Amino acid sequence: VKRRVVVLRLGHRPLRDARVTTHVALTARALGASGMLLASSDIGVSKALEAVKERWGGDFFVETSVNWQSEIKRWKAQGGKVVHLTMYGLNLPEVLDEILENGEELLVVVGAEKVPRSVYQLADWNVAVGGQPHSEIAALAIFLDRLNLRQGRDPLKESFEGGELKIIPSARGKTVKKKGEG
Ligand SMILES: C[S@@+](CC[C@H](N)C(=O)[O-])C[C@H]1O[C@@H](n2cnc3c(N)ncnc32)[C@H](O)[C@@H]1O
Repeated sequence: VKRRVVVLRLGHRPLRDARVTTHVALTARALGASGMLLASSDIGVSKALEAVKERWGGDFFVETSVNWQSEIKRWKAQGGKVVHLTMYGLNLPEVLDEILENGEELLVVVGAEKVPRSVYQLADWNVAVGGQPHSEIAALAIFLDRLNLRQGRDPLKESFEGGELKIIPSARGKTVKKKGEG
Protein backbone atom coordinates (compact mmCIF):
# COMPACT_ATOMS: atom_id res chain seq x y z
CA VAL A 1 0.00 0.00 0.00
CA LYS A 2 1.17 3.44 -0.77
CA ARG A 3 1.17 5.49 2.41
CA ARG A 4 0.40 9.14 1.81
CA VAL A 5 3.26 11.37 2.96
CA VAL A 6 3.32 15.15 2.73
CA VAL A 7 6.26 17.28 3.89
CA LEU A 8 5.79 20.53 5.80
CA ARG A 9 8.78 22.84 5.49
CA LEU A 10 9.10 25.44 8.25
CA GLY A 11 11.38 28.43 8.68
CA HIS A 12 12.20 28.96 5.01
CA ARG A 13 14.11 32.23 4.51
CA PRO A 14 13.77 33.51 0.94
CA LEU A 15 17.10 33.64 -0.96
CA ARG A 16 19.10 32.06 1.83
CA ASP A 17 17.12 28.79 1.94
CA ALA A 18 16.01 28.63 -1.69
CA ARG A 19 18.41 25.87 -2.64
CA VAL A 20 17.98 23.74 0.47
CA THR A 21 14.17 23.99 0.34
CA THR A 22 14.22 23.04 -3.35
CA HIS A 23 16.34 20.04 -2.42
CA VAL A 24 13.93 19.10 0.37
CA ALA A 25 11.14 19.05 -2.23
CA LEU A 26 13.18 17.18 -4.86
CA THR A 27 14.19 14.58 -2.29
CA ALA A 28 10.61 14.17 -1.05
CA ARG A 29 9.46 13.73 -4.67
CA ALA A 30 12.18 11.25 -5.57
CA LEU A 31 11.44 9.17 -2.47
CA GLY A 32 7.71 8.88 -3.02
CA ALA A 33 6.09 11.72 -1.04
CA SER A 34 2.98 13.34 -2.54
CA GLY A 35 3.86 16.97 -2.01
CA MET A 36 5.30 19.73 0.13
CA LEU A 37 3.63 22.53 2.06
CA LEU A 38 5.81 25.60 2.44
CA ALA A 39 5.28 28.09 5.24
CA SER A 40 6.60 30.94 3.09
CA SER A 41 5.38 32.96 0.13
CA ASP A 42 8.57 32.22 -1.87
CA ILE A 43 7.22 30.80 -5.14
CA GLY A 44 10.68 30.04 -6.57
CA VAL A 45 10.57 26.53 -5.13
CA SER A 46 7.18 25.69 -6.63
CA LYS A 47 8.31 27.03 -10.00
CA ALA A 48 11.42 24.86 -9.88
CA LEU A 49 9.35 21.80 -9.01
CA GLU A 50 6.84 22.56 -11.77
CA ALA A 51 9.70 22.58 -14.27
CA VAL A 52 10.97 19.26 -12.92
CA LYS A 53 7.49 17.76 -13.14
CA GLU A 54 7.12 18.88 -16.75
CA ARG A 55 10.37 17.20 -17.75
CA TRP A 56 10.47 14.20 -15.47
CA GLY A 57 6.82 13.48 -14.67
CA GLY A 58 4.98 12.48 -11.50
CA ASP A 59 2.36 14.51 -9.70
CA PHE A 60 4.28 16.04 -6.79
CA PHE A 61 2.69 19.28 -5.58
CA VAL A 62 4.12 22.31 -3.80
CA GLU A 63 1.78 24.62 -1.91
CA THR A 64 3.26 27.92 -0.73
CA SER A 65 2.11 30.46 1.88
CA VAL A 66 0.53 27.90 4.13
CA ASN A 67 -0.23 28.67 7.75
CA TRP A 68 1.63 25.82 9.41
CA GLN A 69 -0.42 25.77 12.61
CA SER A 70 -3.67 25.36 10.69
CA GLU A 71 -2.14 22.76 8.33
CA ILE A 72 -1.01 20.64 11.28
CA LYS A 73 -4.39 20.98 12.98
CA ARG A 74 -6.28 20.17 9.77
CA TRP A 75 -4.07 17.16 9.08
CA LYS A 76 -4.72 15.78 12.57
CA ALA A 77 -8.45 16.54 12.39
CA GLN A 78 -8.60 14.38 9.25
CA GLY A 79 -7.01 11.47 11.09
CA GLY A 80 -3.45 11.99 9.84
CA LYS A 81 -0.36 11.82 12.05
CA VAL A 82 2.49 14.28 12.37
CA VAL A 83 6.18 13.37 12.49
CA HIS A 84 8.58 16.19 13.36
CA LEU A 85 12.18 15.44 12.41
CA THR A 86 14.50 16.82 15.05
CA MET A 87 17.82 15.68 16.48
CA TYR A 88 16.29 16.05 19.97
CA GLY A 89 13.53 13.51 19.36
CA LEU A 90 13.27 9.76 19.92
CA ASN A 91 15.65 7.86 17.70
CA LEU A 92 14.14 6.60 14.43
CA PRO A 93 15.03 2.90 14.89
CA GLU A 94 13.13 2.97 18.22
CA VAL A 95 9.90 4.53 16.89
CA LEU A 96 9.63 3.33 13.30
CA ASP A 97 7.41 0.34 14.21
CA GLU A 98 5.01 2.55 16.13
CA ILE A 99 4.83 5.03 13.24
CA LEU A 100 4.18 2.25 10.73
CA GLU A 101 1.42 0.81 12.92
CA ASN A 102 -0.35 4.08 13.65
CA GLY A 103 0.46 6.53 10.89
CA GLU A 104 -1.53 5.78 7.75
CA GLU A 105 -1.12 9.36 6.50
CA LEU A 106 1.97 11.24 7.59
CA LEU A 107 2.81 14.92 7.64
CA VAL A 108 6.59 15.12 8.02
CA VAL A 109 7.78 18.44 9.45
CA VAL A 110 11.32 19.69 8.82
CA GLY A 111 12.80 22.96 10.01
CA ALA A 112 15.46 25.38 8.83
CA GLU A 113 16.56 27.55 11.74
CA LYS A 114 15.14 27.17 15.23
CA VAL A 115 11.78 25.40 15.18
CA PRO A 116 9.01 26.89 17.40
CA ARG A 117 8.42 25.06 20.67
CA SER A 118 4.77 24.35 19.84
CA VAL A 119 5.79 22.07 16.94
CA TYR A 120 7.26 19.67 19.52
CA GLN A 121 3.89 19.67 21.32
CA LEU A 122 1.73 19.32 18.21
CA ALA A 123 3.75 16.46 16.70
CA ASP A 124 2.64 12.88 17.33
CA TRP A 125 6.29 11.89 17.20
CA ASN A 126 9.46 13.96 17.47
CA VAL A 127 11.92 11.76 15.62
CA ALA A 128 15.70 11.94 15.51
CA VAL A 129 17.57 10.47 12.58
CA GLY A 130 20.44 9.79 14.95
CA GLY A 131 21.38 12.18 17.73
CA GLN A 132 23.86 14.27 15.76
CA PRO A 133 23.08 17.54 13.98
CA HIS A 134 23.01 17.19 10.20
CA SER A 135 20.51 18.40 7.66
CA GLU A 136 16.80 18.47 6.86
CA ILE A 137 17.52 16.98 3.44
CA ALA A 138 19.49 14.08 4.87
CA ALA A 139 17.03 13.53 7.74
CA LEU A 140 14.09 13.44 5.31
CA ALA A 141 15.87 11.11 2.87
CA ILE A 142 16.77 8.59 5.54
CA PHE A 143 13.34 8.75 7.19
CA LEU A 144 11.52 8.19 3.87
CA ASP A 145 13.90 5.47 2.75
CA ARG A 146 13.43 3.47 5.97
CA LEU A 147 9.69 4.01 5.87
CA ASN A 148 9.54 2.86 2.24
CA LEU A 149 11.68 -0.22 2.71
CA ARG A 150 9.66 -1.35 5.73
CA GLN A 151 6.51 -1.10 3.61
CA GLY A 152 8.04 -3.28 0.91
CA ARG A 153 8.18 -0.35 -1.43
CA ASP A 154 11.18 1.12 -3.17
CA PRO A 155 10.60 4.37 -5.07
CA LEU A 156 14.20 4.17 -6.28
CA LYS A 157 12.99 1.39 -8.59
CA GLU A 158 9.73 3.04 -9.63
CA SER A 159 9.32 5.15 -12.74
CA PHE A 160 7.31 8.36 -12.83
CA GLU A 161 4.20 8.68 -15.01
CA GLY A 162 4.19 11.37 -17.65
CA GLY A 163 6.90 13.94 -18.31
CA GLU A 164 9.08 14.28 -21.38
CA LEU A 165 12.29 12.55 -20.43
CA LYS A 166 13.47 9.25 -19.00
CA ILE A 167 16.96 8.26 -17.97
CA ILE A 168 18.32 4.96 -19.25
CA PRO A 169 20.76 3.88 -16.56
CA SER A 170 24.23 3.57 -17.95
CA ALA A 171 27.55 2.52 -16.46
CA ARG A 172 29.31 5.50 -18.00
CA GLY A 173 27.98 8.63 -19.63
CA LYS A 174 24.46 9.97 -19.76
CA THR A 175 21.62 8.38 -21.70
CA VAL A 176 18.34 10.26 -21.74
CA LYS A 177 15.40 9.23 -23.91
CA LYS A 178 12.42 11.28 -24.97
CA LYS A 179 9.30 9.50 -23.74
CA GLY A 180 7.36 7.90 -26.53
CA GLU A 181 10.52 7.10 -28.49
CA GLY A 182 11.49 3.45 -28.71
C1 LIG B 1 20.07 22.51 10.16
S1 LIG B 1 18.88 21.90 11.27
C2 LIG B 1 18.70 23.22 12.44
C3 LIG B 1 17.88 22.86 13.66
C4 LIG B 1 17.90 23.90 14.78
N1 LIG B 1 19.22 24.06 15.31
C5 LIG B 1 16.94 23.55 15.91
O1 LIG B 1 17.32 23.59 17.06
O2 LIG B 1 15.79 23.23 15.62
C6 LIG B 1 17.45 22.03 10.27
C7 LIG B 1 16.54 20.85 10.32
O3 LIG B 1 17.23 19.68 9.98
C8 LIG B 1 16.60 18.55 10.56
N2 LIG B 1 17.61 17.76 11.27
C9 LIG B 1 18.92 18.03 11.41
N3 LIG B 1 19.55 17.05 12.08
C10 LIG B 1 18.62 16.12 12.36
C11 LIG B 1 18.64 14.85 13.04
N4 LIG B 1 19.76 14.35 13.57
N5 LIG B 1 17.49 14.16 13.13
C12 LIG B 1 16.35 14.63 12.60
N6 LIG B 1 16.25 15.83 11.97
C13 LIG B 1 17.38 16.56 11.85
C14 LIG B 1 15.50 19.10 11.48
O4 LIG B 1 14.24 19.00 10.81
C15 LIG B 1 15.90 20.56 11.66
O5 LIG B 1 14.80 21.39 11.91
